[in-house]
Amino acid sequence: MTTTVTAPPAAPLPPPSRRRGRLLAAGLVLLLAAAAAVYWLTRDTDDGAYDPDAPYLDASRPVAERVDDLLGRMTLDEKIGQMTQAERREVTTGDVTTYALGSLLSGGGSVPDDNSPQGWAQMYDGFQTEALATRLRIPMIYGVDAVHGHNNVRGATIFPHNIGLGATRDPQLVRRIGETVAVEVAATGLDWDFAPCLCVARDARWGRTYESFGEDPEIASSMTTIVTGLQGEKLGGPNSVLATAKHYVGDGATLDGKDQGDARIPEEELRKIHLPPFQAAVKAGVGSVMVSFSSFNGEKLHAHRYLVTEVLKEELGFTGFVVSDWNAIDQIDGATGFTPAEVSAAINAGIDMVMVPERWREFITVLRDEVDAGTVPMARIDDANRRILAKKFELGMFEHPMADRSQFDKVGSAAHRELARQAVRQSQVLLKNNGGILPLKPKTGKVFVAGRSADDIGNQSGGWTLTWQGSSGPITEGTTILQGIKEAVEPGGTVTYSADGSGVDRGYDVAIAVVGETPYAEYEGDRPDGVKLDKVDLDTLATLRKAGVPVVVVLVSGRPVDVSAPLPQVQALVAAWLPGTEGAGVADVLFGAYAPTGKLPMSWPATAAQEPVNSGDEKTPLFPYGFGLSY
Ligand code: BGC
Ligand code: BGC
Repeated sequence: MTTTVTAPPAAPLPPPSRRRGRLLAAGLVLLLAAAAAVYWLTRDTDDGAYDPDAPYLDASRPVAERVDDLLGRMTLDEKIGQMTQAERREVTTGDVTTYALGSLLSGGGSVPDDNSPQGWAQMYDGFQTEALATRLRIPMIYGVDAVHGHNNVRGATIFPHNIGLGATRDPQLVRRIGETVAVEVAATGLDWDFAPCLCVARDARWGRTYESFGEDPEIASSMTTIVTGLQGEKLGGPNSVLATAKHYVGDGATLDGKDQGDARIPEEELRKIHLPPFQAAVKAGVGSVMVSFSSFNGEKLHAHRYLVTEVLKEELGFTGFVVSDWNAIDQIDGATGFTPAEVSAAINAGIDMVMVPERWREFITVLRDEVDAGTVPMARIDDANRRILAKKFELGMFEHPMADRSQFDKVGSAAHRELARQAVRQSQVLLKNNGGILPLKPKTGKVFVAGRSADDIGNQSGGWTLTWQGSSGPITEGTTILQGIKEAVEPGGTVTYSADGSGVDRGYDVAIAVVGETPYAEYEGDRPDGVKLDKVDLDTLATLRKAGVPVVVVLVSGRPVDVSAPLPQVQALVAAWLPGTEGAGVADVLFGAYAPTGKLPMSWPATAAQEPVNSGDEKTPLFPYGFGLSY
């Protein structure tokens, strides 16, 4: 760990190409710096200057003592700064210092111009240098959605999305994945991961179903080993990253699987199905919890004092800090634009840090006014600060605020990719295998491969990969499923590929069709009419079938898809979920290098219209929860 590295702040916006633009920018920076100086000289400070001998800077003292000491030195403005989280694109040079911002984030796809580990570390150090230029030198904490690997970073290892990890039923594997993701996140300098999502998806029409470990709380609870993986046995140490249990609570319970919708269920059901994974995460020492956009029986979680303060903090004993979701405080009253009433409702409900990506300046002013007016008690501000500062101390940020630049080569390393491939193998669920057509024999035969997801890293990775919603195509480095199949078959056998199946004939021993969903993320992924195969996939399957070759379907999807129509006419079906960059893990199962062990983390609907379908209800799914064949 280095503490002395000083890097120039990375420009959060693309640099203007013309000289005039540069001059203007330089002028602006000077102006901002002057404004900052005036601001700092004229503000009400408790005791003035930085004291290098202050107890809070003494790492040998207990965290509680350091927090007390620091809090006693902070002005109200500094406290409000700690509670504010802005988006990297929405701050300009000087803002972190001027406003004493406590936290920054990268939204999905919000990356530095140089989207490499070096580029991220450079950006991070730039912002951190600004934080350390504040009066008390409190480091800022930087959060990112590393939800299946450090997925915004080009070249990072992309693991299966949670739904696939749920199919492995292997909490120790998931813990190792957490450790590995933490290494890649720490290698880029960042401190905080907005993961794991502990949502219990009860309706696959919900676009975030793949962020869920499955329909039964037991799986998500057991997978909170990922918290220990990310954070370490305790916070601190070179590869310890703060984890976030999200989205609290009942995001997977919304009516009709509507994203950010309303969970209309009795409290008893909320407690039985949606709360237990959070309980397990608190037990595992999770450092932060993110509140859900959704409502519980018509009441927005972001203003739900009972669930956030009484249940989470008091009953479950959560001592970390609660962060709000993206602009979510703005949704409390349903009208656009957050109001003072929304700000005080959120803070008084128990939210400690507010993700106000764009309008953070306004938030600071509003919260200040609310405190001055007595609507938000000072005790609440102090409690929020204690929680946030304690995590910063525990993470060792005061001692090691800058990026550790010694691990760039760990991002996307061969060892990390090997672990991801192992996870892919274990996540495959074999749903049909007529006549034991699988496993296929390696290094022999004439294999035909078709389907639009056969040779597509973007499709097999899904949403939250390089961009927020994800996209098709060669968006990052990795091995496509087709490449994995080729490795398994050649030399000895041959592989012929065409996306739509054209060119197939009776001369092939088998046709493997890799079809399914194309990338989406929250909101845009909702399918209120049920999750079905697109016409292009159905056409590909029909082409293969007509040729008279046995067809093996590999379904790349974030959730169960209605396969009732084509299923009777194909020989085998494998649910591959969203495997990520290591497509060879799929081939490992198809060609018998690994006999399938994956089990369904969700009930598989008989038809698209059957959702919601869950184990224990009266419905008969096509394949029940827990189903999975092997060889
Ligand atoms: C999502 C969160 C995510 C946050 C920051 C929100 O829209 O709901 O899961 O952590 O954005 O990107
Ligand atoms: C961001 C996401 C965020 C979403 C919310 C996007 O622009 O990249 O991180 O969750 O907006 O609407």
